[in-house]
Amino acid sequence: MPYIADSRPAPPTVIGPATKKATRPSDPLPQSLIDGARVAKKEVFDAGKHLNFSPPKGVTTMKEIGLDGRGISPIAASEPFPLSPPKQSGKSEAKYSVAGVDLVQAFDYEIANINISVKKDCVAGSDYKQEPDVSAFAWHYDSFPFVCVTMLSDCSNMVGGETAIRTPAGDIKKIRGPEMGTAVVIQGRYIEHQALKAIGGLERISMVTPFRPRDPSIRDELVLTGSRAISNWSELYHGFTGYRLELLEDRLRLKMKEEQKRVDTKRPFSIPNMTAFLREQIFFLEATVAELTPVEEMD
Ligand SMILES: [Fe+2]
Repeated sequence: MPYIADSRPAPPTVIGPATKKATRPSDPLPQSLIDGARVAKKEVFDAGKHLNFSPPKGVTTMKEIGLDGRGISPIAASEPFPLSPPKQSGKSEAKYSVAGVDLVQAFDYEIANINISVKKDCVAGSDYKQEPDVSAFAWHYDSFPFVCVTMLSDCSNMVGGETAIRTPAGDIKKIRGPEMGTAVVIQGRYIEHQALKAIGGLERISMVTPFRPRDPSIRDELVLTGSRAISNWSELYHGFTGYRLELLEDRLRLKMKEEQKRVDTKRPFSIPNMTAFLREQIFFLEATVAELTPVEEMD
């Protein structure tokens, strides 16, 4: 198992809101948006039926942005790829071919985050004169190893909306944002980036789905910085500790199997190997404890 706790660089620190109370949306959603989202017939989501995946035409690699060997995959970000109905699609295969590593949804409470920005009393395109490179969020690292950003609204009359990546050498590289029905995948936990503001449209609705590696032996450096301020803390911490304990359980079982194999093949016990494994788990548990900071109840 590739336990490399002692030799690898520490993951970037994620800076986020330090508020102790969950933040609620600044304005209520316009009624027109709620009415427009109503569906006549409720249908259970079926990836095979409702998604039409085709692989991205290109990807940006970690090497290209000066981060070779960092993170959990050699892929930094994908170009936008279609993710709209209909046709068949192998969802987990899709994730692998885009991200370069097999991923699973972070945990149940974190299925997705929908960002809705609506322009009030304003005509589309009225502020084209503004500087289009203004950032929607400052430079940051994400809390999740990978995220998939899917665009749900029509942004064809908007300008901007790209993601800017800053390399360790200080160079800025822009990657194209998704259009309606398409998605991008980015290894945001390890890449300093910011979303550039999209200017011109009336509404912009995107869905951010967080992922972590499926293989329990791959390091997991997920943090809750981004989630804490917008979540019901009790459910958030339950989901987080639940998956962390399962991950630890999987790791311990894998390690016991490996140890049994060593005995069966009559190889000597390795102190450095076992110590490295145990240290990694201490580190993992300490990182888990560090996430459990007090948060006040949501209103
Ligand atoms: Fe981000």
